[in-house]
Amino acid sequence: MILLGIESTCDDAAVAVLHGPQKVLSSVIHSQDAFHAKYRGVVPEIAARRHLVTLLPAVHEALNLAKLSPGDLNAIAVSTRPGLVGSLLVGAATAQSLALAWGIPCWGVNHLAAHVYSAQLSGPLPYPHIALVASGGHTLLLKVTAPNDLLILGGTLDDACGEAFDKVAKYMGLPYPGGPAIDELARNGDARAYDFPRMQVKSELWPYAFSFSGLKTAVIHQSARFQKKKEATPADLAASFQERAIGVLLGQTRLACKDLGIPRAVIVGGVSANSRLRLLTREDPQVEWCLPPLAYSTDNGAMVAGLAHALFDLGVTGLENISLLPRNPHPERIL
Ligand code: KG4
Ligand code: ZN
Repeated sequence: MILLGIESTCDDAAVAVLHGPQKVLSSVIHSQDAFHAKYRGVVPEIAARRHLVTLLPAVHEALNLAKLSPGDLNAIAVSTRPGLVGSLLVGAATAQSLALAWGIPCWGVNHLAAHVYSAQLSGPLPYPHIALVASGGHTLLLKVTAPNDLLILGGTLDDACGEAFDKVAKYMGLPYPGGPAIDELARNGDARAYDFPRMQVKSELWPYAFSFSGLKTAVIHQSARFQKKKEATPADLAASFQERAIGVLLGQTRLACKDLGIPRAVIVGGVSANSRLRLLTREDPQVEWCLPPLAYSTDNGAMVAGLAHALFDLGVTGLENISLLPRNPHPERIL
């Protein structure tokens, strides 16, 4: 089966063509970073209007790169939740119109479940596994027993991890988005220059909770208090913040693996592109870590088409019922 995947839940317009559940024939991503950079965050109205301009050309580009025509497609898959409502509308309207014109089905999938599936774009993974979704809008820890069975074990009580990277970068005068900028600067920094507080959070809601706003505040308003090295540089500050933020992500995920007796974990979403996080997971004997190829860490169409294919193979019904939701509709599961 050949599927076209459309992803436009936030600010990236991404389209991919997949043959089967893993083989990516083409993947096109139109980043909107330049349009949001001066506001240092995504402006929802601008995001939706840019999708109107870029999504259709991205579909044609993806088909051309795959050397296919619309007649070769079996279905179109699109992310329908959660996301910015204007962006979701443009994505779903584009997907449904094309599906109607080309006489093929249009299937809706959950963006967070698609991120989790992205770890399988380099090969199928055994179930169950633990999944950490760390992006600009979400930090969620999940127990995954099937592509459509994702139990929420924990989440952030305040900022998402990527959001904390973006806000610390803003404070440091680094470009938007902040994650890649901090990652780059931290390469030359000393992560022991500042001893920022370790976050210990207890939540009634979840066994494994996260909090990033205390760390962010410590970096932005009180960094002198935690400085251990004389004449610390901005690179040292970036490295010290990054080490703590990533330490929390890995620590909670390791704990969930141990408590639940599950040996493997995936990390997906924009923060999984972080080079320090990738290095630490490669060197960790405690957990079998599996990260998506770099190109599929941030938002992309391949994860959407791949998940839709996997759900179809499982016999999941109702994929054609497209309802757009700004939030995940259930407190305990990704649906
Ligand atoms: O998954 P994603 O592309 O979009 C959302 O669904 O949010 O994630 C974007 C987030 C941003 O906050 C960005 O700063 C962060 O991922 N990010 C990174 C890196 N690359 C992107 N954070 C840390 N290190 C990186 N290398
Ligand atoms: Zn995302």
